[in-house]
Amino acid sequence: MAAGRFVEMKKRGEKFVVLTAYDAPTARLEAEAGVDIVMIGDSVGTNVLGYASEREVTLDDMAHHIAAVRRGAPGVYLIGDLPFATYESEAQALASAARLAQAGADCVKFEGARPDIVRALKREGYEVCCHIGLESQHQEGKRRQGKTAEAAAKLLADALALDAAGADFLVLELIPRELAAKITERLRAPTIGIGAGADCDAQVLVVHDLAALGTRDFKHNRRYVELGAALRAAVASYARDVREGRFPAEENGFSMEAAELAALEKIIA
Ligand code: KIV
Repeated sequence: MAAGRFVEMKKRGEKFVVLTAYDAPTARLEAEAGVDIVMIGDSVGTNVLGYASEREVTLDDMAHHIAAVRRGAPGVYLIGDLPFATYESEAQALASAARLAQAGADCVKFEGARPDIVRALKREGYEVCCHIGLESQHQEGKRRQGKTAEAAAKLLADALALDAAGADFLVLELIPRELAAKITERLRAPTIGIGAGADCDAQVLVVHDLAALGTRDFKHNRRYVELGAALRAAVASYARDVREGRFPAEENGFSMEAAELAALEKIIA
């Protein structure tokens, strides 16, 4: 599926919606709800796999989760993350991208200002999403980026260089809204913001943050449902019912025919 349709949406001023998913049922729900792009981010590491950092995510992890999402949402455009240290050289980036594409990704995303990597991937026909601002793979902590004029000018220059190299999308994470607006205005590629204000061409959230499934909360996030609390309460009710003999009830099981039961009793008598 081609990224060009999102460039056309940008030209028309139509916002599009991006959300992470890491498994088939969540991807199916997101597709049914009308999400335009599902992102299988390396945030799978901290949200699903129990890793302490995104840096622990491997190419095998990403391929496994991309394949699951593809099975859940066969018709949706998928962006998959190249994990930490899998795109150091052009050759390595191409081999890593091939692995994610084989698993079902339409587009590969990587962090940092590497126009050389964008050019190499584009030459081989891959669609590419770049990611600047907060780079969890390369920076410690979740700190806001581009706060000074100098840092902001550097991010703008990086964005322009990635756009000129042929990037199909640019994720802008945790940068001031004014800077995100200036980048969005100057780029051909659509920008996908997270903590970068409302002027980006698209927004992305981590589904575990949106659904309050994780343990953390962030200023850039909005919790649309308290799924974590609802699930905890449901599990506690189930545990209580089992311990107190209320589950399973009559309607949760089935009985033998009387004749079969009588025959069984004869056999085992
Ligand atoms: O890993 C991820 O989910 C991401 C998004 C937060 C943009 O990179």
